[in-house]
Amino acid sequence: LTEIAAELKSALHQYPNFPSEGILFEDFLPIFRNPALFNKLIKAFKMHLEARFPNQTIDYIVGLESRGFLFGPTLALALDAGFVPIRKKGKLPGELYRAAYTKEYGEDFFEIQVESIPEGSNVVIVDDILATGGSAKGAGQLVQMCKANILEFCFVMELDFLKGRDKLQADTFTLLSGQTESLKESR
Ligand code: PRP
Ligand code: MG
Repeated sequence: LTEIAAELKSALHQYPNFPSEGILFEDFLPIFRNPALFNKLIKAFKMHLEARFPNQTIDYIVGLESRGFLFGPTLALALDAGFVPIRKKGKLPGELYRAAYTKEYGEDFFEIQVESIPEGSNVVIVDDILATGGSAKGAGQLVQMCKANILEFCFVMELDFLKGRDKLQADTFTLLSGQTESLKESR
């Protein structure tokens, strides 16, 4: 797993001063251009989750708009689980649960369809990056409103120094751990 992680990490492309001055943006899109790498990304999460929850069925992978949509459905398929999206406000039809979450520049809202996750389901919440943890915490609240069980939060990357994982409602797994100084303030 560490070997795969190193390979994935070297595929990331850093963009200084994006989206604003002083931010080092970590672009993980190159992973998806390379089918072998994309496959390794999915395999790495699958290996981890199967080892971590050997006796539990993962019923749903919940992905966060937008970047959690890039690999969430593929991971769900690999695990024989369903995929459920959490979207930014105003995009989903039907009866919804809504949770406010705090972003860098103010508040936004996440929504989930009430009917999407049956009570008591085992859920893993996925996204590309854990920064302040505001987004993931809001997602966790929505899954809890569905009365589902959050097995774990899974991210490709984490900005450790922001301590986002301390805010979350369940354990957190990050594929590319050990962020270096140079990755600080990245998004
Ligand atoms: C980014 C990133 C995570 C979130 C992390 O998403 O993809 O979802 O921020 O930040 P946090 O831990 O401080 O909440 P963003 O809302 O910028 O948009 P996108 O996924 O639609 O590109
Ligand atoms: Mg996002």
